[in-house]
Formats: sequence, structure tokens, C-alpha cells
Amino acid sequence: MDNRPIGVFDSGVGGMTVLKELRKKMPHENFVYLGDTKRFPYGSKSKQTIIELTKNAMEFLKKQNVKMIVIACGTATSQALEEVQNLYSIPIIGVIEPTVDYIYKTNKKKIGVMATAGTIRSKGWEKELSKRILELDLQSVACPLLAPMVEEGWYENKIAKLAVKEYIKSFKNREALILGCTHYPLLKEIIQKQLGKKVEVINIGTHVAQEVEKKLKKQDMLSQSNQTTLQIYLTETEHKFNEVASILLGENIEAKLVKEETELLV
Ligand code: DGL
Repeated sequence: MDNRPIGVFDSGVGGMTVLKELRKKMPHENFVYLGDTKRFPYGSKSKQTIIELTKNAMEFLKKQNVKMIVIACGTATSQALEEVQNLYSIPIIGVIEPTVDYIYKTNKKKIGVMATAGTIRSKGWEKELSKRILELDLQSVACPLLAPMVEEGWYENKIAKLAVKEYIKSFKNREALILGCTHYPLLKEIIQKQLGKKVEVINIGTHVAQEVEKKLKKQDMLSQSNQTTLQIYLTETEHKFNEVASILLGENIEAKLVKEETELLV
């Protein structure tokens, strides 16, 4: 048993879609969330910058005495997971492998990925999927406008519908579509409606939560807290974060500001 919290990290509110699944799967766990809102969006930044920002986030979460870190960001997973896993001894989990494991089991080969420009450029999904799926038929589309729209709370309005329509028009005959950015589950309903029921739209958070539970169980590190805590830190609070996160989790969310001079140096 280990009641220390799990650290969860994203550039903004997107990682909260993963946190939601983690809490659903493991209701006795405590969590510390870090949203690097000051440097959002990550999707348009270089690999080197993403590595630096991800390292800073790992340092911050380590100081919060977490037992494991979930990089709840497709962009950081695809470009910095390996680097930080090599640097730190604490277990660090990304969003790609657990999802690829799941897709492999479904036997689906015609896959689509929507993600940020950085994730698509890194070919992170392509590399992992092609290791497991022999006759992989992959279509990838970079959707740079979607995460900023979600961050603004625009995930149900007309503009969101039009943007999604434009981005998904190049997907043809897909069996499954991976929402490769953790902001996109907030757009899932719109995406599913436009693609039709035959395409399985995959929320990566579900598969990450299963993997985290499996890993903690194996090492006898699951928490048994009855009164759990959720602490949320942001690097910039002039944001719609609280509003979007509160709707997503169905409870009142109040994020705290990280004092960066001492706690998160960039
Ligand atoms: N939520 C993030 C992802 O999964 C990043 C969005 C961004 O910062 O551009 O890719």
C-alpha cells in the first residue's frame, strides 16, 4: 500500500480528461495535477523545448512526493517520454503505449490519429503502432486549432463543429480514430457524430487508467485512502481552466498558482 499521490501533467486542461478516467478507475488514489498553462500550447513547440518543459514538470511533481507520474499529454509523451524515463527513477507513464496495446488487442488495422502538430511531426503514434500491427493502414491529421479552442471552452459551439468537420474530412474508411491529444475527448461527441457509429473513437485516458492501475497493483502500491485529495497547480491562472475543468469533472475546481521563481524554473 502507498498512499502518496499520483502526479499528472499536461500543458493545460487536456490532462484533466485523463485525470477523470484515473479517478474513475482508482477512487482511493490521491492526485497532484500540474497544467503548464503559462507555456500552452505545447503542440507548436520544438522537441527540445518540450523536453525542457517536461523535465521541469517532472521536477515539480517529484517535489510533491508523488509515487508515479502520468504524462497526460500526447505532445509531451511523443517527444519527451523516453528522455525523462531515462533521467528519473520514479515510474513515468505516457499515453501512447497503453492505447496501442488496446488497439492491438482489438485487431483493428485501419486507424486514424488526430493530434497536435508536434505529435504528428514526431511520428510517435506511427512508430508504436507499426511495431505491433503488421498491416497497419494509418492516416494522421494535425489539428493545431483544436486544443486552444478547448482551452477557451469552445468544444460544443458552431465553430468547434466546423473546425472538427474540416480536420476529419480526410479520414476515409477508418475502423478506429485515436484522439491523440488529451484535449480532444471534450470534442468526442461532435467527432463521433460526424464520423458515424461505425468508427470507434478512442479516448486515450481510459487505457492509461487501466495501465496505471495494473502497474500500481503489481507493485503493491495502490492507495487505500478513504478521504482522497486532489491538488491542482497551474503556471498561469488567467485562464478558463477552472470553468472547463469543473464542467468536465462535475465538481468545483479551484487551481492554485505555482510560485515559479522557486518551484518551476524555466
Ligand atoms: N493536451 C496536449 C496533448 O495531448 C497538448 C495540447 C497543446 O498544448 O498543444 O497533446
